[in-house]
Amino acid sequence: MTDSTTEATETFGDLGKILVIIPTYNEIENIARITGRVRAAVPEAHILVADDNSPDGTGQAADELAAEDPNLQVLHRKGKEGLGAAYLAGFRWGIDNGYDVLVEMDADGSHQPEQLPRLLTALRGADLVLGSRWVPGGEVVNWPKSREFLSRGGSTYSRLMLRVPIRDVTGGYRAFRKQTLLGLGMSEVASQGYCFQVDLAWRAVRAGFRVTEVPITFVEREFGASKMSGNIVGEALKLVTSWGIQSRLGKIPAPVPDREA
Ligand code: GDD
Ligand code: MN
Repeated sequence: MTDSTTEATETFGDLGKILVIIPTYNEIENIARITGRVRAAVPEAHILVADDNSPDGTGQAADELAAEDPNLQVLHRKGKEGLGAAYLAGFRWGIDNGYDVLVEMDADGSHQPEQLPRLLTALRGADLVLGSRWVPGGEVVNWPKSREFLSRGGSTYSRLMLRVPIRDVTGGYRAFRKQTLLGLGMSEVASQGYCFQVDLAWRAVRAGFRVTEVPITFVEREFGASKMSGNIVGEALKLVTSWGIQSRLGKIPAPVPDREA
């Protein structure tokens, strides 16, 4: 059910310069496919691969792609420091290099580049757009029931604990305006694993930004392996619970905006 018939001719110059950030850890079978699909789906978007020194050579493969494509850059990081840290470094790089829209996208094809125009269209009337599996029209293809249960459960728990009006608060297919990232206090974010996604969405809501969900079809990866682990789930459960308690006690301060440079 891949969606390859979207509005590939639509342009988004009115939103400014667009950077798609793709974090990678051992995505050697996926890196060329995903960057090629982004190119085809939204030709004006630039790409930043944020690689954590993948042992399988994903970083070198990305360098080879970058050598052929002036609009593809690679951020090489020392080692595996988690999805959150890779994205924060990518956002900072993007803002410092003059981008106006920063997109989060997994490398493994779960976030279909052909649906990016849908997110960008919604960003015209929002500050943050979340690709959502759990709104009407959203769906997941090829996920085991256990993983769906974990994701739906994690999202519901976070929504109730933090009182955020978002159905898919852990998802990782997103488009931010630069001002949203600066305003939500990026540099205060400490969560490293996938909990980082909850942290950012909740901060955007608290900072008063317009957050919109659009339905996506999340397709489970065909190649390579998920990096989801018990530690990542543990971190998320611990942090969301503690944030929920602290916010009920009035102890969560408002996000402190970052400066542009
Ligand atoms: N640089 C870097 N460092 N990249 C990482 C790291 C890391 O430590 N850990 C994971 N990644 C990259 C992967 O290479 C992939 O491109 C992307 O982050 C997502 O990782 P997956 O391991 O494929 O995630 P998933 O499919 O289990 O989880 C999906 O669902 C989560 C829960 O809804 C993703 O969409 C997550 O973003 C989402 O939070
Ligand atoms: Mn995945």
